[in-house]
Amino acid sequence: RIAGPCSLILFGVTGDLARKKLIPAVYDLANRGLLPPGFALVGFARHDFGRQEFAGMIKSAAKEGARTPWRETVWKQLAAGIRFVPGEFDDDAAWERLGETMRELDEKQGTGGNHAFYLSIPPGLFPVVVSQIKKHGLATSDGDGGASNGGWRRVVIEKPFGHDLASAKELNSIVSDVFPPESVFRIDHYLGKETVQNILAFRFANGMFEPIWNSNYVDHVQITMAEDIGIGTRAGYYDGIGAARDVIQNHLLQLMALIAMEEPVSFKASSLRIEKQKILANARPAPRLDFHTARGQYVSGWAGGQQVAGYLEEEGIPQSSTTETYAAMRIDIATRRWAGVPFYLRAGKRLGRRVTEVAVVFKPAPHQPFAKHDVEELGSNALVMRIQPDEGVTLRFGAKVPGTTMEIRDVLMDFAYGGAFVESSPEAYERLILDVLLGDPPLFPQLEEVELAWEILDPVIEHWAKQSRIDTYVAGTWGPASSDAMIARDGRTWRRP
Ligand code: BG6
Repeated sequence: RIAGPCSLILFGVTGDLARKKLIPAVYDLANRGLLPPGFALVGFARHDFGRQEFAGMIKSAAKEGARTPWRETVWKQLAAGIRFVPGEFDDDAAWERLGETMRELDEKQGTGGNHAFYLSIPPGLFPVVVSQIKKHGLATSDGDGGASNGGWRRVVIEKPFGHDLASAKELNSIVSDVFPPESVFRIDHYLGKETVQNILAFRFANGMFEPIWNSNYVDHVQITMAEDIGIGTRAGYYDGIGAARDVIQNHLLQLMALIAMEEPVSFKASSLRIEKQKILANARPAPRLDFHTARGQYVSGWAGGQQVAGYLEEEGIPQSSTTETYAAMRIDIATRRWAGVPFYLRAGKRLGRRVTEVAVVFKPAPHQPFAKHDVEELGSNALVMRIQPDEGVTLRFGAKVPGTTMEIRDVLMDFAYGGAFVESSPEAYERLILDVLLGDPPLFPQLEEVELAWEILDPVIEHWAKQSRIDTYVAGTWGPASSDAMIARDGRTWRRP
């Protein structure tokens, strides 16, 4: 799978995401030999970089973030296709220059009229950028301003795809006015992670798990995305957005869909979409929102042995902010397979440690022929898919403690990527950028999934919006007490990963 000649036109090239993830991913792809010689990287921004200066910036970002070794020969080849177009997004002259650059690349670099526009910019800027692409004839290869010799045009959008259902629909209509659905690639970088892709392999390549993957055997599912970092320098993006919109609407609901969906006819995007959509359409927050949701904001505490600021003390956060940095909720899925099996989702910043996992917790054996004191230390059987870090899968079950009594205790059976494979996992963005350039859509959420996810989340967010105060939790702990109370009402407890 090697991409054909094309260009990647990056809007937001001076931003955090581009520097930390996108540029290094492009270098790593080149280094792995997955980009063609006729590849170009074009930056469009309001900065006044000269070409050399721009290439220098790209080089240092690539060097800093690359996961593969640095090779000057690879860089030199990549650098030959690097261009910069200065200008404001609403400046027609700048867009004319972009069109010229695309034509020049088609002729000299051999990009063949194939161009992907990557919008790594705040969603408020999507409308102007998308309409300029259209206005200047760059969305189709036969447009006036674009390259003349055929080829494809694609657009890549980064979340957030709106901040509720209505705004997501508006955004979708702006984009679909200019690009046909098959040319739109929405990034949910969790779908690019190896361990997330492995969920479907695990479920459908094996015979032994699927028979027990239902309400007869599963008691409940916990999906956790815990981060130890705070909001860092992202106040402008994060405040007013919060944990639920930031990661539950996309990453966690996508994980839930993959865990809960039926077997797809194939791994084509159209088949996956059908199955994921069925889950998302049948999923709703538990009816008592006051009982089955919780949110909180971190206050000063400890992280990595150091004292850290509370959310309201972070730079750029207004004192009156009630944005949640922790969100938890119970989702019920009304299908034959999952009726009565709650899915508990939680995500937060400044928690005890960084871990993302899905735990499928099983019902107890129907009968246990043991003395009560022998099974006192036996928990529930659980299958834990460790998305990151320590990627792998763990099965927890009871075993006899060696000795002269019949005492049973929990033990773990472990699969770790590092121990099982010599192959290393590509970074999520590497895989996703390559798939964009190849025009391969299975790992990108479709419009319908995005809208269904907002339908699930909107009532929760509206419920929270009515509350004037927010619970707190000390940085470095596992969230507000209300979250523990939430799950305790159902007679269950959160796992401590
Ligand atoms: C992003 C969120 O989508 O995912 C961030 O906007 C979050 O707030 C990040 O920190 C986490 O990604 P990862 O791959 O480190 O789990």
